[in-house]
Amino acid sequence: MAATIISGKQISEEIRHDIKQEVDKMKAQGFQPGLAVVLVGEDPASHVYVRNKEKACHDLGYYSEVHRLSADTSQEELLAMVHKLNNQENIHGILVQLPLPKQIEEKAIIDAISPEKDVDGFHPINVGNLVIGDDSLLPCTPAGVIEMIKRTGIEMSGKHAVVIGRSNIVGKPVSLLLQRENATVTMCHSRTTNMKELARQADILVVAIGRANFVDASYIKPGAVVIDVGMNRLDNGKLAGDVDFESAKEVSGPITPVPGGVGPMTITMLMQNTLVAARRAYG
Ligand code: GUN
Repeated sequence: MAATIISGKQISEEIRHDIKQEVDKMKAQGFQPGLAVVLVGEDPASHVYVRNKEKACHDLGYYSEVHRLSADTSQEELLAMVHKLNNQENIHGILVQLPLPKQIEEKAIIDAISPEKDVDGFHPINVGNLVIGDDSLLPCTPAGVIEMIKRTGIEMSGKHAVVIGRSNIVGKPVSLLLQRENATVTMCHSRTTNMKELARQADILVVAIGRANFVDASYIKPGAVVIDVGMNRLDNGKLAGDVDFESAKEVSGPITPVPGGVGPMTITMLMQNTLVAARRAYG
């Protein structure tokens, strides 16, 4: 039986529609969410991501600032920029695009962003609140994964979720969010010895290991939900997920494609976080 395709593009459009309605209302009351994006250097992929964020701000009616700094920017200069944005009243969200050039320590920059404006959800205060289960700004990709599962009508409570990958940006936070939804979570990573055996027990399989087409049908229990967070550029220029979609969809239940799956959700959740931060700032 053909698997259902979970369209992140479509879900994303639905959420953006709701965001736009709220922003229009806010603007009628004289308020406007504001997002600042800071990009250091010439990484071509980062420039594309930042342009997409700028476009999303424009489409949804946010105030937006993009600061493109040269590759030789010092840590002090970038910190000064972050401090300035922390104090700027019309900015509710700050995102410093990663990776940063090697003369700049990423942690020093993330720690300097005001937690109330940390729309990436990377600041230790927000990470700590996520672990505790308190209100916090959630990292965008993991929040997007959970939102997609919810909006597809898939029950997480009591299900066995297996997460492949333990990065700070995806694997760790997504496993915490799945637990928050009352799933039983197993985490696998590069040193897991029986990964296939564990993956085959998953009702919900989230793959974020950063290796093109790593998971094929042999990792998947028939009917399992498969969420592919991978974005790998192949030698032929094509984009591939961490899941071999063609093989996986023959056994899986609902499954996300790449592109058009988790990818579009990430920027949408960034916009959602900026709206949440703006709401809090305006009280
Ligand atoms: N680079 C790739 N993904 C991300 C992200 O989610 N946030 C930031 N700040 N940089 C990134």
